[in-house]
Amino acid sequence: MEKAIIGGTGFYEIGQKVSKKLVETKYGEVEIDIVTIEGEKIGFLPRHGKGHAVPPHLVNYRANIMALKQMGVKYVYATAAVGSFNENYEPGDVVVLKDFLDFTKSRPLTFFEGEDGVVRHVDMSDPYCSNLRAKFYNAAKKEDLLIKGDAVYVCTEGPRFETAQEIRMYKNLGADVVGMTNVPEVILAKELGMCYAAVGIVSNWATGMKGSITLHEIKDTLELNKEKVIKTFIRVFLEEKLDQNHCSCNRAVIEL
Ligand code: HPA
Repeated sequence: MEKAIIGGTGFYEIGQKVSKKLVETKYGEVEIDIVTIEGEKIGFLPRHGKGHAVPPHLVNYRANIMALKQMGVKYVYATAAVGSFNENYEPGDVVVLKDFLDFTKSRPLTFFEGEDGVVRHVDMSDPYCSNLRAKFYNAAKKEDLLIKGDAVYVCTEGPRFETAQEIRMYKNLGADVVGMTNVPEVILAKELGMCYAAVGIVSNWATGMKGSITLHEIKDTLELNKEKVIKTFIRVFLEEKLDQNHCSCNRAVIEL
């Protein structure tokens, strides 16, 4: 199975015939749902476990990514719920992550612990696979999904939300949206040579931004867009011939 989708909060009603696979990794066990669509096997992994059981700072990111790798996965699309502090990206909108700022504090961030005596680094010039990003933009048109644009993502440690002053700082640093899960997920995928791209779905205005649009008011747009995003991922996986020659994802590790 070469293709997988990682979903966040509320990702879990695919309504397809699924088979479950329990994958044992060095970092822990992970359950992956495998769905066969038009003969193509696609893995579905709920980031927080089923029923949103694990808070963002305690998600076992290494186990999740290693489990996909062990299954043979090369291409991963992920969703991320985000708060927006860019006036152009409103609750309900969909954005494509193009870069990140890491403000996490205490998570295991790497597979490269130097156990084998080799020091490894990973190139972050293109943290999100350029090929998967471009293909997502193209396929979205066919799903009638409006993408508002690219976004720089700030990952905070959570589980608390940000203060208003923190959000002003992130804005000054050139970011657009904030979430609690994309780091280290994006890094770990690159360390294992996988193509990984993530799509942000704006669930709220970040702290201190415009008044009070409640989650309830935008729930329908949010649900509709979430569904379209997943359908777009599946469309790329079924319609596109993917290979790793159009990006540098599987050549990003630098050994010293
Ligand atoms: N802050 C951090 N993480 C989030 C937010 C937010 O406003 N919205 C969704 N995930």
